[in-house]
Amino acid sequence: MRLDLMTWPQVDERLKSDRAIVLPIGSVEQHGPTGLMGTDALVAEAVARRAGDLDDLLIGPTFSIGVAAHHMAFAGTISLSAGTFMAALCEWITSLVTHGFDHIYVLNGHGGNIQAIRRSFQTLEGELGSRAPKMVLRNWWEFEPVTQMREALYTKAEGHHATPSEIAITQYLYAEARLAARPLEPLVAPNGPIRNAQDYRARFPDGRIGSNPALANAADGEKLLQSASLALIDDFRQFTVAGRALSD
Ligand code: NI
Repeated sequence: MRLDLMTWPQVDERLKSDRAIVLPIGSVEQHGPTGLMGTDALVAEAVARRAGDLDDLLIGPTFSIGVAAHHMAFAGTISLSAGTFMAALCEWITSLVTHGFDHIYVLNGHGGNIQAIRRSFQTLEGELGSRAPKMVLRNWWEFEPVTQMREALYTKAEGHHATPSEIAITQYLYAEARLAARPLEPLVAPNGPIRNAQDYRARFPDGRIGSNPALANAADGEKLLQSASLALIDDFRQFTVAGRALSD
């Protein structure tokens, strides 16, 4: 169930028996020559929404803009500073806490957000004290069954950015992601650290890091999406056990 497709009386009623919510968080940034700008937000959102449909989890609106300064040398990237991202996320979660939500499950789609999400949790725990909700961060690609599937499908060509797994999921979801297959040059992108946006563009000229997204296809994307959604349901149920016992 989606929060943004409910009425306030419906939310009010639901809060009487269930005060947990999943927040998908992503980024709008370059994803190599064949990946959609919104990949990180679109994938986290799709995983969360499918889980919501399969098992009646409440899914919040997607926090779609992330910390992506290192992608700014590529057209279309939109980035928040870590401070702005944290301020927005803290107010977003505080709003939910005001209404009674006490379990916040963040499903993240972008590695660049991880540190800022963790620091936001620390800030909220300091600010809210005993009112602070139980909070957890999960990255969809790190669920064990998803990790195994990514390794089986792509081995080392999974890489670190514009990965075939995330591109495959967008190919399943959106026709725009099914660009005509053409060999990428080099087939598997180079690896290495990133110093800043200009350095990134200079050393990874097409935007990929360590990946070969040409391996992606929509059928595998559907399998990855389903695997991540089922893993999310399982993990979310464990996360909310304490809360359910309290509210019963
Ligand atoms: Ni990504």
